[in-house]
Amino acid sequence: MTDTAPRTPRPTMPVPTSTDTAQSYWEGFYRGWEPPADWVARANPLFVREAGALPAGTALDLGCGAGGDAIWLAERGWRVTAVDVSATVLRRAAAAAAEAGVADGIEWQEHDLSRSFPDGVFDLVSAQFLHSPVAGVGEREAILASAAAAVGPGGTLLVISHAGWPSWFEEPPLDFRLPTNAEVLSVLEAGPGEWAVDTDEVLTRELTGPTGEVGTRDDAVLRVSRLPH
Ligand SMILES: C[S@@+](CC[C@H](N)C(=O)[O-])C[C@H]1O[C@@H](n2cnc3c(N)ncnc32)[C@H](O)[C@@H]1O
Repeated sequence: MTDTAPRTPRPTMPVPTSTDTAQSYWEGFYRGWEPPADWVARANPLFVREAGALPAGTALDLGCGAGGDAIWLAERGWRVTAVDVSATVLRRAAAAAAEAGVADGIEWQEHDLSRSFPDGVFDLVSAQFLHSPVAGVGEREAILASAAAAVGPGGTLLVISHAGWPSWFEEPPLDFRLPTNAEVLSVLEAGPGEWAVDTDEVLTRELTGPTGEVGTRDDAVLRVSRLPH
């Protein structure tokens, strides 16, 4: 798979300070990057591949960033709740949704998901590249457990994660582990309900690096559906 067009902000993630919280880190990250005038929030192609066949309903997008996925869903009739910890990126995403003519289809909510979680049950719960160098031990797993609990009967949980660093890095640029699909599945197995595994794969895609070089990166795709009983 090739994904060389810019989709979301791609500055290098800074090393967090010892006092950074999720809110201070991600707010600083987004304030430190001003999108160019011609920049457009685009949906992740892997997300489109996985969500494209689902019938429109209600969706929860966790760590929505610049809003490309939420806007894509709203354009296809979904009613979306989109969540991020950064007020700056939520403002930008809301402006992009208004520009795309789908402001009414998306509710933007500011949460640090390690502290609060949106109310409701959804047909699709999505966590796309929900990685954070300031997340504490077990924090991502707890968020994913809440995400699973928010999937209604017959609904879908779609978790796409980086499974490795871009090939142009000789050393990991940040000191945090990238999760595996098996770890996400073990979170689901520890919770209530039964799940069918629809997609469980790791694939390598091409992408453009900071100085224009083409490299590769591995991503892990996990799509599961809650059995309707
Ligand atoms: C790597 S970015 C991915 C953004 C988007 N989902 C995408 O696919 O481009 C991770 C996003 O998760 C958000 N995030 C990280 N930790 C969070 C937390 N504890 N609560 C809410 N959002 C968080 C960040 O602000 C950021 O927008």
